[in-house]
Amino acid sequence: MVDAELGSSLKDVALHKEVDGIVGLCGGYANCGTCHIYVAEQDIARLPAPDEAEEMMLEGLFADRQAGSRLACQIIAGPELEGLAVTVAPAQM
Ligand code: FES
Repeated sequence: MVDAELGSSLKDVALHKEVDGIVGLCGGYANCGTCHIYVAEQDIARLPAPDEAEEMMLEGLFADRQAGSRLACQIIAGPELEGLAVTVAPAQM
C-alpha cells in the first residue's frame, strides 16, 4: 500500500516510493511504456478511458495487455481514486 500525494501521477508516486518495476523513461509522456500497471478489475471503471496517446502505447507493449492495463503516468491521484488497487506489469525492457 502506497499513499499518493493528490495531483501526482501514479508514476511519480511510484518513483518517489521506489516501487520496483516502474521506470518512467519518457518522463510521463505516454511514449515508453515503462510505467505499465494493471488496475484491479473492480477498479477499472473508476478511471476515465485512456486517451489516444495512452491507447496507442498500450497497444505496443511487450508485456501482456490486460483489461486493467494502464500507464501510471497518465493517472492522476485524486480523492475519487482512494483505495485504487494496482499491480506493476512485467518489465518492458
Ligand atoms: S512514463 Fe513513459 S509511458 Fe509512462
